[in-house]
Amino acid sequence: MIGVFDSGYGGLTIFRKLTQAFPEYSFAYLGDNARAPYGNKTPEEITEYTKQGVGELFRRGCVLVVLGCNTASAVSLRELQQKWLPTTWPDNKLLGIVVPTIEQITSTTFQMNVGILGTNRTVESHAYQHEIQKRNPNITVIEHACSGLAGIVELLGSKNTQVVQEVSTCVQGLVDRGAVDAVLLACTHYELIADSIAQALPAGTALYHQPSIVAESLRDYLRRHPEIDSQLEKTGKRTYLTTGHPQEVSQKSTDFIGETIEFQAL
Ligand code: DGL
Repeated sequence: MIGVFDSGYGGLTIFRKLTQAFPEYSFAYLGDNARAPYGNKTPEEITEYTKQGVGELFRRGCVLVVLGCNTASAVSLRELQQKWLPTTWPDNKLLGIVVPTIEQITSTTFQMNVGILGTNRTVESHAYQHEIQKRNPNITVIEHACSGLAGIVELLGSKNTQVVQEVSTCVQGLVDRGAVDAVLLACTHYELIADSIAQALPAGTALYHQPSIVAESLRDYLRRHPEIDSQLEKTGKRTYLTTGHPQEVSQKSTDFIGETIEFQAL
């Protein structure tokens, strides 16, 4: 199985794209809804919770896990890959979503101002800024943290007027830092409110959509690693797990994603 881990609902946007791109593969999703959002937690907490979630997916038979969460990818991935996997799960693979996104941006963009919207911890890590500018110094990166936005999307839903208002405050905060030609939604939750973000941005601003970038990158990874691909179950099974209340999480996920999703308690 391929596992996808996220703090809560946002990773479902990545999960949906992956399951569409790989319909025959079996997938399991784990949302740590009971402890979401992660965006304001300490790096130590994020790393510990991510380790627990990913470990759970490995124990349930996922050979490969994708962190469907920018905060966990930016803050914890390197440490988990370097210190935890080799000793505890040496045969399993853990992939993040930050580097594939950066590779896509820098391979298609040559000189422009790219805005990054993310959680506090993602922005504080400056992972996007450093890695983009390392690969292409002609790209100007303007980062802006939307503190609390993922949390209120989870709490109130994507169409709520308070959420729409918060989106425009957040976009204004970015635009005040400098003009942007394109914006990356560097928090998987923001894909759920991509329309409101697009409306709040100046006309003509392009948006990068991370879920399709991640799906393409996984395709490339599996092509380069047939030894991993051959271990993945391909019976099209879908399992949804949550640390929260399965009924509530199922209902909200169905509203967010627009298709019926049934979660089980972990
Ligand atoms: N889904 C997350 C991300 O991509 C984190 C949102 C949160 O839990 O704060 O950053």
